Amino acid sequence: MKKLTIPDIIKRKGGEKLTVLTAYDASFARLLDAAGIDMLLVGDSLGNVLLGYESTVPVTMEEMLHHARAVRRGSSAFVVADMPFLSYQISVEDAVRNAGRFYKEAGSDAVKLEGGKEVCGAVQAIVAAGMAVMGHIGLTPQTAANLGGYKVQGKDADSARRLLAEARALEEAGAFAIVMECIPDRLAKVITESVSIPTIGIGAGAGCDGQVLVTHDLLGMFDKFVPSFVKGYANLAPQIKDAVSAFRDEVRAGSYPDAKHSFTMQLEVDKLFTEEG
Ligand code: KIV
Repeated sequence: MKKLTIPDIIKRKGGEKLTVLTAYDASFARLLDAAGIDMLLVGDSLGNVLLGYESTVPVTMEEMLHHARAVRRGSSAFVVADMPFLSYQISVEDAVRNAGRFYKEAGSDAVKLEGGKEVCGAVQAIVAAGMAVMGHIGLTPQTAANLGGYKVQGKDADSARRLLAEARALEEAGAFAIVMECIPDRLAKVITESVSIPTIGIGAGAGCDGQVLVTHDLLGMFDKFVPSFVKGYANLAPQIKDAVSAFRDEVRAGSYPDAKHSFTMQLEVDKLFTEEG
């Protein structure tokens, strides 16, 4: 599939929905690419899903770069890399430098950062330096503690108005798309209709211009915590456990490897190791 460009993505506003899934390594990137997913997100959900952290906060630039490089090697699709916590908040210079590392060291096509008006300076500077930024508002996992935990955002009039203002500010700052996480569907629709860039929903209903999910959630591979908005398109965890248990049992029983899964030799090996050999 041909890699989308920023104008292609913006043109999809109000048209065919954009599909975005997380990828953290080359093998999954290859599969998602083959399935025709529009954009791969190297999410900092990497922290919870692959690295065993309790949240996305501990994820470092080095960890993100390592996985972003792997995704690039596995895919020729449009890759968005998540900027980890404190890689863009300390100063605008830092934000541009770290965004640039995803471009120069991992071949990413865009970066994503969480937040509203407080990150617009960083967004503007990254865009001015020639890079593409995807915004992320609503439930922002890096600062979830300040939002009262992993909760739906924008349920009252003030916070709904604030989210709309944040989306407009991000558009104004030059973002090419905005992820909206865990907000009521009607609010997501209003925001979608109020900005000219695509909105990508996750727990934000059907009125967005696209949808993103954590791939391990939709495949049923991450059972530690499954948000209610996730639809399980497969339930692979039990299948993986069954396959691994079958391997364990066959190795213990001596039935694996059998002749079919061994290399046979024409020589009579036993005779090679006689007293002369
Ligand atoms: O880190 C991530 O996977 C994300 C998506 C859930 C949007 O930010």
